[in-house]
Amino acid sequence: MAEFIPVQPFELVIFGGTGDLSRRKLLPALYHRFLDDQIPKDCEIIATARSELTREEFVKMAKEACKAATAADTWSEKSWNGFAAMLDYEPLDISAKAKDWKQLATKVKTDKTTIYYLATSPALYVDICKALDKAGMVCDTCRIVLEKPIGRDLASATEINDGVCAVFAEDQIYRIDHYLGKETVQNLMVLRFSNALFEPLWSRSHIDHIQITVAEDLGLEGRVGYYDRSGALRDMVQNHILQLLCLIAMEPPGSMEADDIRTEKIKVLRALRPLDETTAKKNSVRGQYVRGLYKGEAVPGYLEELGGASETETFVAIKAEIDNWRWADIPFYLRTGKRMSRRNSEIVIQFKPVAHSIFGTSIGEPNKLVIKLQPDEAVRLYLHIKEPGPGGLRIKSLPLNLSYAENFVARYPDAYERLLMEVARGNLSLFMRRDEVESAWRWVDGIIDAWKHIDATPDEYTAGSDGPLGAAIMLDRDGRSWRKPTTDAKS
Ligand code: BG6
Repeated sequence: MAEFIPVQPFELVIFGGTGDLSRRKLLPALYHRFLDDQIPKDCEIIATARSELTREEFVKMAKEACKAATAADTWSEKSWNGFAAMLDYEPLDISAKAKDWKQLATKVKTDKTTIYYLATSPALYVDICKALDKAGMVCDTCRIVLEKPIGRDLASATEINDGVCAVFAEDQIYRIDHYLGKETVQNLMVLRFSNALFEPLWSRSHIDHIQITVAEDLGLEGRVGYYDRSGALRDMVQNHILQLLCLIAMEPPGSMEADDIRTEKIKVLRALRPLDETTAKKNSVRGQYVRGLYKGEAVPGYLEELGGASETETFVAIKAEIDNWRWADIPFYLRTGKRMSRRNSEIVIQFKPVAHSIFGTSIGEPNKLVIKLQPDEAVRLYLHIKEPGPGGLRIKSLPLNLSYAENFVARYPDAYERLLMEVARGNLSLFMRRDEVESAWRWVDGIIDAWKHIDATPDEYTAGSDGPLGAAIMLDRDGRSWRKPTTDAKS
C-alpha cells in the first residue's frame, strides 16, 4: 500500500476569503482535514477580502460555514477552537493602495510553504500576482491556486496564463478542476491501469462508443449572471467533461508523476477533431430549459430566472471524435445540462457485440461498463447471464456491481479536501497544466465559432426532462441511444 504522505506546515492566504467558494467549500474542507489530524497545528490560514471585518467577525462567519457543512452529531466546540486558532483575517482591496498589501505582507512570513488561493473573479488573477510580486511576497516555496474559469476563450485564458506565469513558475501553479478531486474520477486511472482485464479491450477494436453524461437537476441557484455569460459548453465541457474524456481516452502514462499524466492528457486534447460549421450542425445540440417540474414542484424556465432574453445554452450535447490510432471512428458522446430529470454523472463504455452470436438475437445489448460518478459512486460491468429455470435459454444482461457505499463505510471527503491537501503536499498531478487549459479552449472556441455561423438557437427542453429531443436524435442517427439510468434496477 502506498505510504500516507503527511502534510508539512503551511500558511494559506485565501483571496476572496468571505466569498461563496470560501464559505461553502474551502473553509469546511480545511476544517474536515483538521478533524482528521491532517493539518499540522502550526499552519496558518489568512483570509482576505474587501469587507472591513475584524478577526473575531471573520472567525464567527467561518464557524457558521463549517458548522453548516458538518454533521450535527460530530460537531465539537473543542475541535472548532483548535481550528479557529489558525484563522486570521486581513481586509484588502485588491485594486487598492500599496498600504493594504504592506499590511498583508506583515502577516505572510513565507517561512514555510506559502499558498495563495485565488477564490476571486479570474479578472483579478493577474493583478493579484503583480501585487504579490510588488509587495515582495513571492518566493521559491510559494504556490498559487487558480479557480476556474481560467478565461472565457483561448485569448483570455492565454492572457491570464501569461500574467500569472510572469510571476510564478509553472510548477508553482495549481489550476483547479474540482472534478479531478472526486473519488470516482480518481478511480478511473486505477480501474484502467491496475486491472489487466481492461487494457486489451480499451480501443476501437472492442469499444463501439463512449458516453459521458453530467446531468444536474438544479437550476442556476442565484448564479444566473455568471452563467449567462458562460453557458454549458464553457461552464462544464471545457473543463470537467474534457478532463473525464482525457482520463478515459489517454494512453497509460509512464508513471503517476504529474507531468507524465498531464502529457498524456494533452495528447488527447490535441487529437480532438475540431467541429466546423457543417459538423457542428450535425454533431452538437444546444438546449435551454423552460418551466417545468422539479421534485413535483413547478420551477421557472431559464429566461424567467434571468429576467430577459438570452440564447445561452443550459444544455449541450456533442459527438466528439479523437483522431488517433486507439480511437479513430469511435464517437465520444458528451452531454451536460441543468434542470434535468435527475442528478446523474456517469461514463458508459459500450463494447461491441460478439463476433458471431450462437444464441441468435436473444443475446440483447452487448457488454458495457458503467462508471457512476455521482450521486452514487459505483462501477458496473454488464454481462450476459442465463436466467435460471428450464424452458429454453433466456439471456439477461446484469451488472457486476461494485458500489462504493456497499464496500466502503468511510465518509467521502469533498473534492476540495483532497485538492487542498495535494497543493500542500506539492503534488501537481490533480491540477491542469497551462497547455491543457489552452488546448481545451482551442477546441471549445472552434465550436463556439461554428455556432456563430449556423442557426444554433438553443432548443427548448422542459425543466425536469432529459434535455432536448435533438440530443436523442443525434445518437439515433448513428443507430445508438443514451443510456437511461431508470432502466436499471439500481440506476
Ligand atoms: C461547476 C460549475 O464548475 O461545477 C457549476 O460552474 C456546476 O455550474 C458544478 O453546477 C458541478 O459540480 P458538481 O461537483 O456538483 O458536479
